Amino acid sequence: MTTSTQRLIGILVMAVVMVSAAVTARAETVLITGSNRGIGLAFAKAYAEKGWTVIATARNPEEADELKALAAKHPTVVPERLDVTNETEIKTLAAKYKGKPIDVLLNNAGIGDFTGGATLGAFDAKLFQRVMNTNVLGPLLVSQAFIENVAASGQKKIVAITSLTAALGQTLRKQVRRDHTYYYSTSKTALNMAMKTLAAEVRERGVIVAIVHPGGADTDLLRSAYGGKSPATARTPDEVVAGMIKIIGERTLENSDQVIGYDGKTLAW
Ligand SMILES: NC(=O)c1ccc[n+]([C@@H]2O[C@H](COP(=O)([O-])OP(=O)(O)OC[C@H]3O[C@@H](n4cnc5c(N)ncnc54)[C@H](OP(=O)(O)O)[C@@H]3O)[C@@H](O)[C@H]2O)c1
Repeated sequence: MTTSTQRLIGILVMAVVMVSAAVTARAETVLITGSNRGIGLAFAKAYAEKGWTVIATARNPEEADELKALAAKHPTVVPERLDVTNETEIKTLAAKYKGKPIDVLLNNAGIGDFTGGATLGAFDAKLFQRVMNTNVLGPLLVSQAFIENVAASGQKKIVAITSLTAALGQTLRKQVRRDHTYYYSTSKTALNMAMKTLAAEVRERGVIVAIVHPGGADTDLLRSAYGGKSPATARTPDEVVAGMIKIIGERTLENSDQVIGYDGKTLAW
């Protein structure tokens, strides 16, 4: 082998090393709440398949078998413990990831109140507070804890998963328990306003807030709303997540605080 051939090979090797280092440095990171099942798990899978680093949080990561299997398949998936109603856990996780850019902070965890108990004469203050703490305060506390990580990232996005049932523009002829519940729907309307307010506060830092709804996805949550079986119109979590990832990717500061569906349709609320 001539000296010039050796030199050429050396240059090529260096170029490959530099390109792969640049690709690694550019790899994006998403933090997902409630990523052990349903829509959150589908988000974790989809982002892992795109090559992202996935901080996949769950209340009980040691019992999250599907998440553990995903992490075994994709080393960039890192299961972590996080109950979004537990301020100590939020602070502990934020301290662990201090200084780590997080491109997309995905507030997915949520609960419903589909037992049918919430009607006049039967309001349950504790359950109402649990739904509000999980669906509204949780995303705010998580966003507060990780705002520096998001602001330091390339994409700078905070996402909240809302619901069609939150829309104030709809006509409710009768309170339909499974579709429009006092606690769940109210919490999602409150979440929309919380996120719109957050969007206004973080806008000057270039942080985009995306308020996205998945329509109806066949998950435990929807099944529980419909007495055990999702309606025929429900889509798979993978389908709605593919739509939402596209929407999240397209969000800009200009449309930061709009509510938008997995199908790209803006929701008047
Ligand atoms: N499915 C739909 O059609 C639909 C429609 C509109 C909006 N959404 C929204 O989409 C999001 C995901 O719902 P899903 O349908 O995937 O429901 P799901 O299958 O019931 O999953 C809910 C997830 O949230 C987690 N979670 C609940 N409370 C939590 C807490 N305090 N801290 C951390 N994680 C918690 C659950 O963890 P555990 O396993 O520990 O309980 C689970 O991972 C929710 O915000 C929901 O409101 C869903």
